[in-house]
Amino acid sequence: MSYQTVKGTYDLLEKDMMKFNELAGLFRGYLDLYGYSEMKTPVFEYTGVFRKENDTSDMVTKEMYTFSPNGKDSLTLRPEGTAGIIRSFVENKMYANPEMPVKLAYIEEMFRHERPQKGRQRQFTQLGVECIGEKDPLIDAEVIALGYFYIKAIGLNDVKVLLNTLGDNESRLKYKDELIEYFRPFKDQLCFDCQNRLEKNPLRILDCKVDHESQIVQNAPKMKLNESSEEYFAKVRHYLDVLNIPYEIDDKLVRGLDYYTDTVFEVVSTNEASGSQSTIFGGGRYDNLVKEMGGPEISGIGFAIGMERLMILAEAEGVFEELDKELDCYVINLNEDKDYALDVTGMLRENGFTCEMDYYGRSLKAQFRTSERKNARFVLIIGEDEVNSGSVTVKDVLTKAQETVKKEELADRLDQLMEDYYV
Ligand code: HAM
Repeated sequence: MSYQTVKGTYDLLEKDMMKFNELAGLFRGYLDLYGYSEMKTPVFEYTGVFRKENDTSDMVTKEMYTFSPNGKDSLTLRPEGTAGIIRSFVENKMYANPEMPVKLAYIEEMFRHERPQKGRQRQFTQLGVECIGEKDPLIDAEVIALGYFYIKAIGLNDVKVLLNTLGDNESRLKYKDELIEYFRPFKDQLCFDCQNRLEKNPLRILDCKVDHESQIVQNAPKMKLNESSEEYFAKVRHYLDVLNIPYEIDDKLVRGLDYYTDTVFEVVSTNEASGSQSTIFGGGRYDNLVKEMGGPEISGIGFAIGMERLMILAEAEGVFEELDKELDCYVINLNEDKDYALDVTGMLRENGFTCEMDYYGRSLKAQFRTSERKNARFVLIIGEDEVNSGSVTVKDVLTKAQETVKKEELADRLDQLMEDYYV
């Protein structure tokens, strides 16, 4: 019996794992630059963490992996990061932190039962941030900046930032009523999902993938922001200008999740390699989520980047060229006995050198070939003479020089050779 990965999941093999780690490492660097702390939440939570009353999003209504191991509790595999982070923020009373806003981040696997295609998996990884605390347009701009400059630092150029506002609760509720009234006579002409969205979340009809190009949607009334929402959005745009972040206003951008208020944004790729899944990351502000999850009235804003989409684009834009695994030392052992070679290998590792040795007593030629394949900087040869004299023959692969060094002096000598080479 042999098995394959489940549809929509994939293995990360060595080279891809290196790329993944490189992108994750750079993201962690950006989290440091902006003062975010990484955290983890469980892979599964009580279903209520993700499913709110009247939620109309596809993610919640169609795509969640929900199960009940004991026939009692309903549990769900994490479909997105924000809800779990907010659950933890409330449960751990992080709102009592004297230093607000609280800036949290995560690099975690998510699970959605979507139709798999390029850039869309059923298990995927998000790189996300959530900034929770009193709202200020400066924070909105800074959150977008973190994601945007991270993407730029990877070397991706074919990207654009789309920006919109859903207004504050007052403006949005008014707009919602207006849209319901406008769409009601056309209900039969909307897609099945939009018919369901009509009464609960008519804003989602505006960016429905099926209906968004229809005349009915195109002619829908625009949102009239109240004065404070107008002012808030103007300030977000101003701070983006200060930070030199180009953006386009997209007044049909609503985002697929139901919790957003005020600022929403997406960064999309214009590179054809992204195919139909061109959104690299998306996010926005949520004024009501913390309260809905049992916390105080406090706002938050965040985004999540899809790692798989990032990897496809980074590959297409050729940013991974230099990624080859390197090894400091490869120990060639020409003796039947492996003790001395193992002792040298262990000593070098303890001194911080990446080091591998031959396990099988193969020929000198075979061991040299392995050292080349592994990109070893130094080849250390151990024959009978070396064992008897307590030394090692060092071949410097870059300079081709060869010398014999006492075992006790080996670590210092290798350091010296590395240093001399780069002077
Ligand atoms: P989202 O738009 O559902 O937002 O997902 C964010 C990103 O995750 C997408 O732009 C995409 O890159 C990636 N993504 C989503 N679904 C898949 C999939 N099936 N396969 C591969 N990649 C995928 C959220 O999840 C929000 N929690 C973002 C947020 C944080 N808003 C506020 N804070």
